Amino acid sequence: VSWHQPTWIMTYKYIVYTALPLYHSSALLIEVHGCIMQGVTIVLHARFSASQFWDDCRKYNVTVIQYIGEVLQYLCSVSQRNNDQDHKVRLAIGNGIRADVWREFVRRFGNTNILEFYASTEGNISFVNYAGKVGAVGRVNCLYELIKYDVKKDEPVQDENGYCIKVPKGTSGLLICKITQYAPFSGYAGAKQQTGKKQLRDVFQKADLYFNSSDLLVIDNDNFIYFHDRIGDTFRLVYLFQWENVSTMEAEDILGLTDCVQEVIVYGVSVPGYEGRTGMACIRLKENSEFNAGSTYRHVKTHLPNYARPRFIRIKSAIELTATFKYRKVQLMEESFNSAVIKDRLYFLDDRENLYVQMTEDIYNSVKKHDLKL
Ligand SMILES: *[C@@H]1O[C@H](CO)[C@@H](O)[C@H](O)[C@H]1NC(C)=O
Ligand SMILES: *[C@@H]1O[C@H](CO)[C@@H](O)[C@H](O)[C@H]1NC(C)=O
Ligand SMILES: *[C@@H]1O[C@H](CO)[C@@H](O)[C@H](O)[C@H]1NC(C)=O
Ligand SMILES: *[C@@H]1O[C@H](CO)[C@@H](O)[C@H](O)[C@H]1NC(C)=O
Repeated sequence: VSWHQPTWIMTYKYIVYTALPLYHSSALLIEVHGCIMQGVTIVLHARFSASQFWDDCRKYNVTVIQYIGEVLQYLCSVSQRNNDQDHKVRLAIGNGIRADVWREFVRRFGNTNILEFYASTEGNISFVNYAGKVGAVGRVNCLYELIKYDVKKDEPVQDENGYCIKVPKGTSGLLICKITQYAPFSGYAGAKQQTGKKQLRDVFQKADLYFNSSDLLVIDNDNFIYFHDRIGDTFRLVYLFQWENVSTMEAEDILGLTDCVQEVIVYGVSVPGYEGRTGMACIRLKENSEFNAGSTYRHVKTHLPNYARPRFIRIKSAIELTATFKYRKVQLMEESFNSAVIKDRLYFLDDRENLYVQMTEDIYNSVKKHDLKL
């Protein structure tokens, strides 16, 4: 993302605030580099603190803030204060905001434009949502394509000639971008295999070369483009003798609508003897809320197809983030649902009881021995 933005942004007197780690390209390239190039004041804070954030903004007269990962969600989850709208922040720049958080953020903190963009450090494509369309990452341009992708086989769907197929509007597809002299992809240092995974050959004709973004996006009828899912974040499982895809984002959105849930992460865990992965959710409850096993079960049952319902739920009082404010999914996946290892409360979706029941060693063993079917 470069700084040639439309004039409405230029009218701000920039004082930029970032509490993101500087080894991440968002903070280093966009903020620090951008500010030096433009002669703009930047306020650096060594650690992000949701409770101190707005006090800092007031203290330094900040007008532009930056977010990635769950930053804005964390700001929204601090309890309301009288001076929530007493600040000069007029612009939030970043990526990864969900539509519901976007609405809540603007409702709560007021008068701040959100400039959501899509880009990756190594990638060769970027979008900026200048229009402020809630939930979108930008507007269609002609530099990229969205192609049909078979998540199950982890490869693009091919036509009869072996070439990729463009998806129509409203359907999600893998975002790819042609690698050219003007849009090069240099690959990763040292990792030939990783670099190979990010390059697609013979896409629309023999010997052409595209950058594989690993992201599924979708375009609406007004040509706004939305993030849909990260390929690795969808997990697959066999249900009633058939492979199914579960979008973790979709399951998270559904679970996030229940009364007691403050934060939720959905991921797939391996269960010995089952093909693919089984859904599990890690939840942080709202303050002073209890986990309601019955209503959560009914909610999940009403809104998610059977195979997509998390079989296991883990309640954590705090969910750790990586230094770049992403959830530590891999660690959660590894810890899985073993009650001997996990000290947090665990629940198991019990279809006979119509309830999430508290996990016991008996249930754990029965699941492993397949006495209890998933
Ligand atoms: C913030 O703005 C106020 C009012 O314009 C000014 O008095 C104050 O010195 C500013 N603070 C900083 C840190 O620049
Ligand atoms: C593609 O990469 C080149 C060189 O790194 C850069 O100049 C160009 O802006 C990139 N294009 C996009 C759309 O990010
Ligand atoms: C695209 O990249 C993702 C993530 O690196 C990888 O899982 C996938 O296999 C790649 N797709 C192809 C067709 O190489
Ligand atoms: C799995 O996902 C792919 C890509 O989104 C889709 O084409 C396929 O139909 C899905 N399979 C099932 C069983 O839903």
